[in-house]
Amino acid sequence: MNQHARLEPAPIPFIDLAAQRRRLGSKVDEAIARVTAHCQFVMGPEVRALETELAKFSGARHAVSCASGTDALVLVLMAKGIGPGDAVICPAFTFCATAEVVALLGATPVFADVDAATFNIDPKSLERAIGTAKRLGLKVKMVIPVDLFGLPADYDAITAIGDAEGLFVLDDAAQGFGASYHGRPIGMLADATATSFFPAKPLGCYGDGGAIFTDDDDLAAMLRSLRAHGEGTNRYDNVRIGITGRLDTIQAAILIEKLKIFPDEIAARNRAAERYANALGNLVAVPRVPDGLTSVWAQYTIRLPVGTRERFAAALKADGVPTAVYYPKPLNRQEAYKHFPVADGGVPVSDKLADEVISLPMHAYLDPPTQDRIIDAVRRALST
Ligand SMILES: Cc1ncc(COP(=O)(O)O)c(C=O)c1O
Repeated sequence: MNQHARLEPAPIPFIDLAAQRRRLGSKVDEAIARVTAHCQFVMGPEVRALETELAKFSGARHAVSCASGTDALVLVLMAKGIGPGDAVICPAFTFCATAEVVALLGATPVFADVDAATFNIDPKSLERAIGTAKRLGLKVKMVIPVDLFGLPADYDAITAIGDAEGLFVLDDAAQGFGASYHGRPIGMLADATATSFFPAKPLGCYGDGGAIFTDDDDLAAMLRSLRAHGEGTNRYDNVRIGITGRLDTIQAAILIEKLKIFPDEIAARNRAAERYANALGNLVAVPRVPDGLTSVWAQYTIRLPVGTRERFAAALKADGVPTAVYYPKPLNRQEAYKHFPVADGGVPVSDKLADEVISLPMHAYLDPPTQDRIIDAVRRALST
């Protein structure tokens, strides 16, 4: 045996869903068993119960559950009649679904740049993107700010621009549900808010799921119809073109249990983020939360000098610390999206961030010894 062989450190999970399952004990399994006993797998009683709890949590009048975060976005676009000839302004630095739903409906996503400090849509670039879209002869109908990595976008500035231009503001809160903006929770900051319950999200289910929040009674009724094939008075009364976009009852039952511990998990995520910031803030560009905002820390994303990321990730991996890059390419450079317009002046910040960002493990069950291992590994990697 080689006496000098280095013992591989046990890998740390990037997101520890098993730790959450241990904390929840039998509650989730019992909730699933209740659904398998009553057999109302689609639109069972848990779906309405969850929607009531989600509305309470968010402060919005209505929570309409649906099959995914992508469906949450597409349903709102369908309800607002977005289609060919319309422009919807999206940040370039986001997950593809933000713009995908726009293109899917035959409308044109127009990419705006983001702010380097917050990773969120830059209001100045939003104004330029509106000008770009108009010049191209498009009707600018909507803006989709994204609460990237869990931090709310700059809603005061975005709403002011939206009001001046008559735009519908759709918050893509797939990563931001549970965060707040000057005392107001996500769900109340835009005309409608879409979120995702993908398992890795701060509030995730055991498969795909999503929800839409709005104060608008007519929009909520339209969304409920659209998610069920455009039903009217009953399932076989088809009054509009819709989709199969309902949340499964089993996922609703799981989410009811997870929502109960969500406030506590948000606090734990914030403690972990504060610990990272205190330990690493003087070594590397760590995320900063603007005054009056809270983040739900969907990701903890630092920025490294261009050209050093690969070596950094490899060093952490050797220490058993996984990392992830969200996102290695902004949408304006993706094959499927590169032909869509970009705001005048381009999106230089999005282009640069894609080369700089890297995310560290972040979840509510990151205990101090595990986090210290990550911090030590980051320090070592930065010093070599
Ligand atoms: C910003 C953003 N928008 C939309 C989505 C789509 O959500 P889903 O995967 O539930 O369809 C995601 C999911 O990763 C996302 O991060």
